[in-house]
Amino acid sequence: LRTRLLAEIARADSPAALEQVRVAALGRKGEITGLMKDLGGLDAEARKTAGQALNRLKDEIAAALDAAQTHLAEAELERRLASERLDVTLPVAHETAGRIHPISQTIDELTAIFGAMGFSVEEGPHIEDDFYNFEALNIPADHPARQEHDTFYLADKPDGTRKVLRTHTSPVQIRTMLRDKDKLAEGHPIRIICPGRTFRFDHDATHSPMFHQVEGLVIDETTHMGHLKGCLTEFLRAFFDIDDLPLRFRPSYFPFVEPGAEVDIGCKRSGGELKLGNYGDWLEILGCGMVHPKVLANCGIDPTRYQGFAFGMGIERIAMLKYGIPDLRTFYESDLRWLRHYGFLP
Ligand code: PHE
Repeated sequence: LRTRLLAEIARADSPAALEQVRVAALGRKGEITGLMKDLGGLDAEARKTAGQALNRLKDEIAAALDAAQTHLAEAELERRLASERLDVTLPVAHETAGRIHPISQTIDELTAIFGAMGFSVEEGPHIEDDFYNFEALNIPADHPARQEHDTFYLADKPDGTRKVLRTHTSPVQIRTMLRDKDKLAEGHPIRIICPGRTFRFDHDATHSPMFHQVEGLVIDETTHMGHLKGCLTEFLRAFFDIDDLPLRFRPSYFPFVEPGAEVDIGCKRSGGELKLGNYGDWLEILGCGMVHPKVLANCGIDPTRYQGFAFGMGIERIAMLKYGIPDLRTFYESDLRWLRHYGFLP
């Protein structure tokens, strides 16, 4: 038995074959196990000698199995080392470093600034219902402001309504207020920004059919126009990194705010170049105002108790000003030379 088992162990050329030998010899129904069981039928003296012999055999076979297993594992490792050998003298594969697109960079920067002021970030769908993009924002179907929006409409639905590509990020104001009005009533102010894509049927050197805006919305019981001015002043000076950047809040009209304003920043223009700072000239940069009571009411928020402000600005616009990018269209041309020039290393 010993000679046969040792021969079988020597012949086993895989861990599985070795395991078979182990089970056949030492398993619950194995040969050696069987002989051990038979010991019970012998008298005491014979049981002792046979028992000792069997135990020695068992130990010897177990040790041989272990040694064979180690040997097989080593052989396997040798084989893998040989087959996976690396030639470290080969030339390395060419790699191209990616760049952060200036729009993404700008969104990251403005999110960090508003984040530090306690704003959280919201998103909304690009394909919007008329209700969120216009109606709830106090822009009814016959309102002249609709013309200015150069809206992309999707095909009519059977019920007569149609979806639009959102023309601004303001519908996210509505979605946020409708969702959070109960939390507001429990004493949690609304304080969100929404950076994202917007769409208008318009294409020239300063307009793209797809562009980005960032919306801001603050609603609580005490927020007033002074907070609006303070918040935007703080943001613009931090974003452009100019401590004394002059700002002008100029009365303007948007159906969803009252009063409404546009904000101009100080600049100078010389030979196609634009420089920001205290130079006496002005450049319009964003729209803002106190949220219209009708808009609050449309969202189920009591306008006699709550108030707040909203603003919206073009992200390409502020990115162009900050990074000296002269042509809007280049943002979307996927020209790698452009990206290498203006893009940001991760
Ligand atoms: N939604 C306006 C636009 O696209 C900007 C705006 C937002 C104005 C919020 C006032 C308040 O022009």
